[in-house]
Amino acid sequence: MGSLAFFIASLGFLLPLVSNANPLDKRAAALKPFNLRVTFKPAAYAVPSTIQHVQDAVACGASNGVTVTAKSGGHSYGSHGLGGEDGHLIIDMRNFSNVTVDQTAQTANIGPGGRLGNVATALYNQGKQAISHGTCPGVGVGGLTLHGGYGLSSRGRGLTLDNVLEATVVLANSTVVTASTTQNPDLFWALRGAGAAFGVVTNFKFKTFTAPENNIVFQYFFSPSSASQLATALTALQDFTRNSQPPELNMRLFLSSFTTFSGVYYGSRSDFDKIMNPLLSKMGIGSGTVSTNSWLNTLTSFSNGPLAQTGTYDTHETFFSKSLMPEYMSPEAITALSNYWNANARSNSRQWYLLFDCHGGNGSAITKVSADSTSYAHRNATFKMQFYDRVASGNYDPSWMPFLNGWVKSITDAMPSVNFGMYINYADTSLTKDEAHTHYWKDNYKKLVDVKMQYDPKRVFEGPQIVGS
Ligand SMILES: Cc1cc2nc3c(=O)[nH]c(=O)nc-3n(C[C@H](O)[C@H](O)[C@H](O)COP(=O)(O)OP(=O)(O)OC[C@H]3O[C@@H](n4cnc5c(N)ncnc54)[C@H](O)[C@@H]3O)c2cc1C
Ligand SMILES: *[C@@H]1O[C@H](CO)[C@@H](O)[C@H](O)[C@H]1NC(C)=O
Ligand SMILES: *[C@@H]1O[C@H](CO)[C@@H](O)[C@H](O)[C@H]1NC(C)=O
Ligand SMILES: *[C@@H]1O[C@H](CO)[C@@H](O)[C@H](O)[C@H]1NC(C)=O
Ligand SMILES: *[C@@H]1O[C@H](CO)[C@@H](O)[C@H](O)[C@H]1NC(C)=O
Ligand SMILES: *[C@@H]1O[C@H](CO)[C@@H](O)[C@H](O)[C@H]1NC(C)=O
Repeated sequence: MGSLAFFIASLGFLLPLVSNANPLDKRAAALKPFNLRVTFKPAAYAVPSTIQHVQDAVACGASNGVTVTAKSGGHSYGSHGLGGEDGHLIIDMRNFSNVTVDQTAQTANIGPGGRLGNVATALYNQGKQAISHGTCPGVGVGGLTLHGGYGLSSRGRGLTLDNVLEATVVLANSTVVTASTTQNPDLFWALRGAGAAFGVVTNFKFKTFTAPENNIVFQYFFSPSSASQLATALTALQDFTRNSQPPELNMRLFLSSFTTFSGVYYGSRSDFDKIMNPLLSKMGIGSGTVSTNSWLNTLTSFSNGPLAQTGTYDTHETFFSKSLMPEYMSPEAITALSNYWNANARSNSRQWYLLFDCHGGNGSAITKVSADSTSYAHRNATFKMQFYDRVASGNYDPSWMPFLNGWVKSITDAMPSVNFGMYINYADTSLTKDEAHTHYWKDNYKKLVDVKMQYDPKRVFEGPQIVGS
């Protein structure tokens, strides 16, 4: 701690050191990322509460040659909100967390520093409104929205970034602009998929929808007993998601030492049974629970705790993670995945999981958005796959990283001519810069660099994996 310089005193907005807490505890909490495996030492730490403060902080970094990084919820898997490396000036957006709904227009202004659980509750309390967002209540709106945002409404409502109408942005030269389809459209395109590299967003205007109240929440249990049984289930699921999964159905397969298949259906129980039963029988899934839930209970069913996020945020894990966004996995790739599971994962006693979110296909609102309307490069991905390996306590030994690296490689080696996409919101710290750029942004990367040169030619906003790094 001693070497940290919280030096922006001249700007008048230090990290709040309130009297009811030990100042060092507050500082320590601010510097503690969600992923404790990946910690960094900032050069300085600003907690602005006005746009002018953000402008001043950006100017301070730019004029002193200190790289500037915005932080919202601090949930980046690579701790990119703390810079992703030592020595950045961090702009902590926690005090930009207002949620204001215009019920007539069905729009909402939402600060990037809001955490999803609080934002969902505030939207609901203002005319039962909602947006499409991720499941974990502690995640910040900022990082989630600027790089994707997949959750329980995405198949019908799109990604979080698909619902942004407008963003207010402090640019590298400290000017404040609006980005939308009509104002600074190139910036708006780049922000929605690669936002961290282009400025500090101080507000999002979203389109909202009225929260659905009679939702079928399901969770089935599944214990594949062999590689071929897992391959059969995955083959059936992939085929269903690509060709038959309706927009009302959102779901995911969570493969771990206990495997679940869960989700939400926005429709009637009888329609749900008609759609699901043939799939369950093809996948070899039997028992489970199905219930009808209000909107807030639907969110709580997947939130791993209460929606409300109050006090000093102090939830953490220690993990290494990777992702794949396949448009299609060949039979060889599915076999390789399943064999690797059988040979290397089943016997692994750490808390690993492989999550398959049913992201795309011809019934998905994500896939229907045209490829060139945002910089998010994974419109056609059938699955959003997240590989996660964590320890309950203690440090993550780097010698464990080959476990997940090998699993991903087994799949990609089976389809050598395909550039598999990867999701920067599941940042993989083992990727080189070039690998990150190629897999996170695919064909959009070149245009992103052009927009970067236009809005941040001096690279005030930098990071180990972001655009232009
Ligand atoms: C427990 C957990 C559950 C998750 N569940 C989901 C899920 O269901 N769906 C999903 O899609 N993702 C999910 N994620 C991934 C999540 O979307 C990303 O980690 C996201 O980037 C976190 O945003 P943040 O603001 O909390 O993180 P931060 O670390 O604060 O920021 C992440 C990145 O965004 C940049 N950034 C943040 N705020 C701003 C801003 N105002 N202006 C410019 N750049 C900014 C940061 O510089 C950094 O590069 C989950 C993550 C965790 C840890
Ligand atoms: C900023 O947020 C913190 C809580 O995270 C709060 O204690 C503080 O009063 C806020 N500051 C301003 C100026 O709003
Ligand atoms: C949030 O709302 C409060 C109360 O209206 C206001 O004082 C504050 O300036 C707002 N914060 C931001 C960052 O807009
Ligand atoms: C998706 O494609 C399949 C054929 O592959 C077709 O039967 C189905 O109707 C399509 N669904 C939608 C929602 O377009
Ligand atoms: C998705 O596939 C369609 C054709 O099926 C193609 O036109 C489109 O460009 C693809 N989008 C991306 C982002 O690759
Ligand atoms: C700030 O940067 C933007 C984007 O590059 C540019 O349009 C604008 O003219 C710049 N403003 C100033 C004052 O230099």
